[in-house]
Amino acid sequence: MENSDLFSLAGLTAVVVGGGGVLAGAMAAGLARAGADIAIVDVNLENAEARAKSIVELGRQAIGIRCDATARPIWRSRWPRCCRASGAWIF
Ligand SMILES: NC(=O)c1ccc[n+]([C@@H]2O[C@H](COP(=O)([O-])OP(=O)(O)OC[C@H]3O[C@@H](n4cnc5c(N)ncnc54)[C@H](O)[C@@H]3O)[C@@H](O)[C@H]2O)c1
Repeated sequence: MENSDLFSLAGLTAVVVGGGGVLAGAMAAGLARAGADIAIVDVNLENAEARAKSIVELGRQAIGIRCDATARPIWRSRWPRCCRASGAWIF
């Protein structure tokens, strides 16, 4: 077994809050390189979509979603979309 198989995230989806930014964006790319599909959640939709596009270029599925992580009503409305899009969880 290859070391990369030990840590494979294939078949999983990661929701990365703040993934339009530098640090979380790099983490999202790392998770994608390990095989995960990614939902980038960020208040800045342009950055979220740009990061999602770069992850698609890595060969994974990705979506950018605008959401303020501190706004609970928005979380409630955006989580289902996020999870439906990823196919990972159904609310
Ligand atoms: N980049 C570094 O080298 C570094 C080093 C040490 C500490 N830090 C700290 O780590 C944190 C992240 O750094 P970074 O460089 O990735 O910052 P960044 O500004 O590039 O990324 C933060 C991201 O979070 C998003 N965001 C902010 N509030 C949000 C909210 N309520 N809901 C959803 N998304 C939200 C922003 O739109 C942005 O895309 C900061 O607190 C920074 O001070 C960064």
